[in-house]
Amino acid sequence: MRFDNKIVVVTGAGSGIGEAAARRFSSEGATVLLVARSEEKLAKVAGSLPADRTQWMTADLSTEDGAKAVAAKVQGLGGADVLVNNAGIAVGGTIEEVSVEDWNTQIQTNLTGYFMVTKFLWDQLKAKKGNVVMTSSVSGLGGDWGMFAYNASKGGVTNLVRALALDGAKLGVRVNAVNPALTKSDMTKDMLENEALMAKFRERQPLEAPADPAGVAAAMAFLASDDARLITGVNLPVDGGVMASNGQPPQ
Ligand SMILES: NC(=O)c1ccc[n+]([C@@H]2O[C@H](COP(=O)([O-])OP(=O)(O)OC[C@H]3O[C@@H](n4cnc5c(N)ncnc54)[C@H](O)[C@@H]3O)[C@@H](O)[C@H]2O)c1
Repeated sequence: MRFDNKIVVVTGAGSGIGEAAARRFSSEGATVLLVARSEEKLAKVAGSLPADRTQWMTADLSTEDGAKAVAAKVQGLGGADVLVNNAGIAVGGTIEEVSVEDWNTQIQTNLTGYFMVTKFLWDQLKAKKGNVVMTSSVSGLGGDWGMFAYNASKGGVTNLVRALALDGAKLGVRVNAVNPALTKSDMTKDMLENEALMAKFRERQPLEAPADPAGVAAAMAFLASDDARLITGVNLPVDGGVMASNGQPPQ
């Protein structure tokens, strides 16, 4: 019960890693505000959590209005102790294929969105001596084939975390990221159905591929808890060993 009497905001909580995070923080006593785009999915997840400690709202976090609405809502609940920046999309394709519009949507959602929600919650986090956990990716620590826009967005998160951690330290606010590899979610649904592709992932992701989102949520809860009070500015691979490899193929 590390989050008893704590208020935790989880963005992208309608499915996948965000849903698992909302469930994990809730199971450890938190009051959780779940945010995402789809009312239907959010209502379903929120409806399965304790009614007296669960709030939800839809918002488009790629917009300033959406990010500000989240800050206002959580202020009304008493202010955020923990912000889990997790909402994201993945734009695939090579530089020939990705339009400027798609690039902008990718960066606006995955990078500017994280910046805006953090910015508008920052005063609350300072007041609570709280912390931020961002869902980055192994794709923020190295490149993927045909995913450069996503890689750029998550690469931006890598240094967003480091630099905000430096500024936040003197204010009592910690900032960290988890960097998952392939994890079961709506985002990866099509990939998961491709057995030949999954065999390739199992070669490169030694512990578990695709990963259970609950395993990612467990690492998030650790980083957000007092157990991690000396940890800030970290991009933590939660990747079943992917980043342990130097990139050479298995023999
Ligand atoms: N699944 C993976 O393999 C994997 C690996 C590494 C990192 N990630 C990251 O994990 C995070 C969660 O993704 P997931 O895999 O659980 O996918 P998902 O599609 O199941 O969940 C994404 C969530 O983000 C929300 N969202 C997207 N755009 C939004 C917007 N503009 N405003 C508000 N909410 C928005 C969706 O509503 C949904 O709730 C993402 O940041 C993703 O990049 C996923």
